[in-house]
Amino acid sequence: MVKKNRTLFFILLISLHFIAFNSCKQTNNPYQIEKDIVVSKAGISTAHPSATSIGVDILKKGGNSIDAAIAVQFALAVCYPVAGNIGGGGFMVYRDENGEAITLDFREKAPLLATEKMYQDEKGEIIKGLSTEGILAVGVPGSVAGMEAAFEKYSKLKNWEILVQPAVELAENGFKLTANQAKNLNSSKEKFIRNNPNLESPFTQSTPHKEGDLFIQKELANTLRQILKNKAKGFYSGEIGSTLVAQMKASGGLITQNDLDSYESKWRNPISFEYKDYTIHSMPPPSSGGIILAQLFNAVDDHQFQGFHSTEDMHIIIEAEKRAYSDRAHFMGDADFFPIPVDELTSKEYMDIRMSNFSSEMASLSDSIEHGTIESEETTHFSIVDEYGTAVSLTTTLNGAYGSKVIADGGYLLNNEMDDFSSRVGFPNMYGLVGAEVNKIEPEKRMLSSMTPTIIEYKGELFMVIGTPGGSTIITSVFQACINVMEYEMPMAEAIHSCRFHHQWKPKEVFYEQDCLNNKVIEGLKEKGHDLKTRSAIGRMEGILVTKKGYEIAADNRGDDHAAGY
Ligand code: DON
Repeated sequence: MVKKNRTLFFILLISLHFIAFNSCKQTNNPYQIEKDIVVSKAGISTAHPSATSIGVDILKKGGNSIDAAIAVQFALAVCYPVAGNIGGGGFMVYRDENGEAITLDFREKAPLLATEKMYQDEKGEIIKGLSTEGILAVGVPGSVAGMEAAFEKYSKLKNWEILVQPAVELAENGFKLTANQAKNLNSSKEKFIRNNPNLESPFTQSTPHKEGDLFIQKELANTLRQILKNKAKGFYSGEIGSTLVAQMKASGGLITQNDLDSYESKWRNPISFEYKDYTIHSMPPPSSGGIILAQLFNAVDDHQFQGFHSTEDMHIIIEAEKRAYSDRAHFMGDADFFPIPVDELTSKEYMDIRMSNFSSEMASLSDSIEHGTIESEETTHFSIVDEYGTAVSLTTTLNGAYGSKVIADGGYLLNNEMDDFSSRVGFPNMYGLVGAEVNKIEPEKRMLSSMTPTIIEYKGELFMVIGTPGGSTIITSVFQACINVMEYEMPMAEAIHSCRFHHQWKPKEVFYEQDCLNNKVIEGLKEKGHDLKTRSAIGRMEGILVTKKGYEIAADNRGDDHAAGY
């Protein structure tokens, strides 16, 4: 009997070992993934190991954070096609070695031929799917123009070819798919075929993708070669630009050569504000990120934090989020088109008034919250620090996974960013966000965003570089990661890996990640009148924290994200 039990025990042990070994292989194969490292000089975390390695190589060649960011942006367009892009846009916050912070807006724009009601039928009803899938969902891409602008102003290497070449090679020779990527590509195949009939491409191939398969993109390599030779001109003009315009014309799209010729990225001052001894620099409009982040910090400025995911702390954060997102819906859009009362919205006094009806006992109903009065699911983020003391926080996107699912004739994916406009005032977009007149569609206007690349100083010194994808949840995720570090004193990786929750005013529920909250907190929040709902993973953060030990470089454990440095 004893012998039999022992045999069973060994069989069990061997099986467990086998399962553990294979699941370990699953997560680490085909890449060795690091989620949490400490380095002394420079480091990067991005959503894909190949992009991280390319960025680190550039840093080792003497490049600064801007050089690495450009190389990573182009690399992600190849090895992380679900969100990395040349056919999309994004935002960057940069802090130089002297502590000056500036932001770059390379957000997509509405085409010149776009009209306010282009997604509505004659009765004013929204035509389902038109702003999210297919050729009409596409905004004028901004990424390539943005990378050239960053290069001209801040590159240290001053060698564009060195920055683009790794992406060309990655597209030409292929990269190995992770298990997540293979699964994602397979589940999107129908949509790729629907939007690109008759196209032969690795996205539409009939054989299913598997982990470890080489994903080769010859056409994309050719497009990247044009960009390597002629910078942004190689994308917006010449063969690549005219092919895109011809494709638009042939399939009922709106983008013309005029749109491509007139696209410009813009340098903008950050939204900068103080919280205790911290100075926070984040993205101004057309992103709502910086304004809402300031509002959230202002709302909790006098709060005595009780502990991570305590009922009291969650309650005040949720209540602040409701108020800030109701302001987002009413006040925010492209400030180049419509004045946004940024100073008022980000002032402490304004948030004090907004929180004056806050009750520590009871949740307020979203319907009872109006915007304040004032006179008058894929994106990707990466964080970089270099040896020179500069830092980049950059969030870039096609909007939804693989954007519009339309593959341009140059082998790159086109965004579906037009859905970030209000297709009709009060009609929710794919993230459930509602908007007002200020975010209506107008030619050449940039659509409102939630992307929140952020750089934080502590007593004037670089402290943290942080950001995430996640649509409407981006801002609340960034805020929670900051609070995790600043108030709960978590190291970077823990702050990022910890569970997250989210409220955006409408819908009325507080969303939280599965298995994230203990029963006591759930009951406590319910007692205060909050509606709670579980959901899938919230965000994929990449963060860097400056500590006495060195730079803590952390990559989110919700995906294949990888941290490296030296
Ligand atoms: O700009 C925005 O707010 C959205 N287009 C971001 C989309 C996004 O983060 C999707 N990722 N999960």
